[in-house]
Amino acid sequence: MKGKLAALEQEALEEIEKASTQDRLEQLRVQYLGRHGTLSALLKELGQVPAEERPEAGERANRLKERLGAEIKQKLISLEKGTPAVRPLRDPTLPGHTFSVGKRHPLTRITREICEIFVSLGFRVAEGPEIETEYYNFDALNIPASHPARDAFDTFYLNTPGPKKYLLRSQTSTVQIRVMEKAKPPLRIIAPGRVFRPDAVDASHSFMFHQVEGLWVDTEVAFSDLKGLLTLFFKQLFGPKTRTRFRPHFFPFTEPSTDVDISCTLCGGRGCRVCSQKGWLEVLGAGMVHPNVFRAVKVDPRRFRGLAFGLGVERIAMLKFGIDDIRLFFENDLRFLRQF
Ligand code: PHE
Repeated sequence: MKGKLAALEQEALEEIEKASTQDRLEQLRVQYLGRHGTLSALLKELGQVPAEERPEAGERANRLKERLGAEIKQKLISLEKGTPAVRPLRDPTLPGHTFSVGKRHPLTRITREICEIFVSLGFRVAEGPEIETEYYNFDALNIPASHPARDAFDTFYLNTPGPKKYLLRSQTSTVQIRVMEKAKPPLRIIAPGRVFRPDAVDASHSFMFHQVEGLWVDTEVAFSDLKGLLTLFFKQLFGPKTRTRFRPHFFPFTEPSTDVDISCTLCGGRGCRVCSQKGWLEVLGAGMVHPNVFRAVKVDPRRFRGLAFGLGVERIAMLKFGIDDIRLFFENDLRFLRQF
């Protein structure tokens, strides 16, 4: 009996393997597993098997029945798909199936890293809308109607009816106003988010990019705190050897204002291609909150002072990962994104 079952198994498996049409498989099913099929015939002989071998032979026959049924099904599926039959549970030396595991986008990673550093220094994360009014993007930030940044070519305006103009925010400084309208100082916030500017797209410009805004308002905050805070921040982000340099600049919403450079992350300040031989990289704008900004949110400028800063996330990510084209962040090319 054992021998007959084994022979049947081998023959049937070979036939199933060779079968190339669904009709042929159906034929084989009837031939082997049908009511008058080979296996049924064998089962009828079970009565002649010695009693002590009967249970084992019965079990074997049943297993064979299940196995052949499964093989036929499997082969049917693979014929439908037009692929060669895959034998389940066969070759353990074949390479396994790999699963692709998702990852965070490099910009998300850097944004989180930046926020974590400030959160560890007592800042709270705040957010604001991407569609804004002229008031939050400009007026409240001491940017008068005559300022060129308000030109339709310098900002994306939305086509909305009515006198109120809506636009895509061009800076995260809007969040300074939104936060101070609600929460009274002292406060320390960090505001990551997307901003929009109608810039022609090239290796270093995009019409949409990301900023992280910082604001610290208290009775005793001084420019020296701004210097200390940002120096510490860049050492945390780029390593303890990183140096910072503060250059006078102008922003309508801060006074005094400064541009902040860090020593080149590639050459350390000696001069190279990345820093255009200057040894320094401009990475951030900052300053002390302008009294008019405090007035706009009804905070007394004689009592409170504030420091504010805004940095571009793409710039930081490009330096950190050695990326030379900003467009790579937004093309969704998995070959690029998988590297991070
Ligand atoms: N909002 C400025 C920009 O987008 C950066 C900035 C933020 C400067 C806060 C000073 C204070 O360029």
